[in-house]
Amino acid sequence: MKNFLEILLRDQTTGNNILWANDEFKAKEIQIEDVDSIRPRHEKNRDLQKLRTKTRAEIFTPPEVCKLQNDLICNERDWQKFIDAKFLEITCGEAPYLVSRYNAVTGDAIPLDNRVGLLDRKFHVINKETSNINDWAQSAIQAVQSCYGYEFQGDNLFLARRNVFETVKDFFRAKFNREPPEDFLSNVAEIISWNLWQMDGLKNTIPYTKQLCQIMDWRTGKPFIFFHLQGW
Ligand SMILES: C[S@@+](CC[C@H](N)C(=O)[O-])C[C@H]1O[C@@H](n2cnc3c(N)ncnc32)[C@H](O)[C@@H]1O
Repeated sequence: MKNFLEILLRDQTTGNNILWANDEFKAKEIQIEDVDSIRPRHEKNRDLQKLRTKTRAEIFTPPEVCKLQNDLICNERDWQKFIDAKFLEITCGEAPYLVSRYNAVTGDAIPLDNRVGLLDRKFHVINKETSNINDWAQSAIQAVQSCYGYEFQGDNLFLARRNVFETVKDFFRAKFNREPPEDFLSNVAEIISWNLWQMDGLKNTIPYTKQLCQIMDWRTGKPFIFFHLQGW
């Protein structure tokens, strides 16, 4: 797990680790030994929850609302085109629109069949449409590459990344009844560390710096500046 955590903490723009970017630690990097202290919002104490709502507008969306909104944008009928459809959860928090392992408000675990995130939906389709492990893995990589998110606060970003990582493992286990291979998981972690990135969405920069964030175009294999995507 240490290797995967190293990848899941990496900032692909700076090459360093992602920052805490909260009131307490500001631009301090999150280290592997900090990971156990990171708690989802539903486990944070009430005062801290209130503070984060005040300073960063942190309030999370319940799965029933994510479901309604995701229903509206999931209208591609060709399953392979759907796997490839690009989605971005802006200010993603713990990424409940992408993956729904638990109710982000209450913390209640959600069984695989009831998951409603955009990446969950891709995996429901992959588990239904593919039969052998090579086809499954190819579609899984494509699905993870197509889902993006950014977030200011480092603990939320780490949890979003871990939620996506664990989701891929959950769907693999459900399909093949065993643990996924390590080289596949390293590849998945690498993609996640590009696709869920730390950014001040008001400035398109790494928090507290003037450095514009880079993301990956998986079709060309070349990184580019997110700000340039917006054509401003
Ligand atoms: C209302 S929450 C939404 C989280 C998640 N998308 C959801 O629906 O549950 C807003 C999130 O935006 C983040 N945030 C606040 N200011 C930000 C900024 N300037 N750039 C990027 N993210 C920001 C907060 O840390 C928080 O996680």
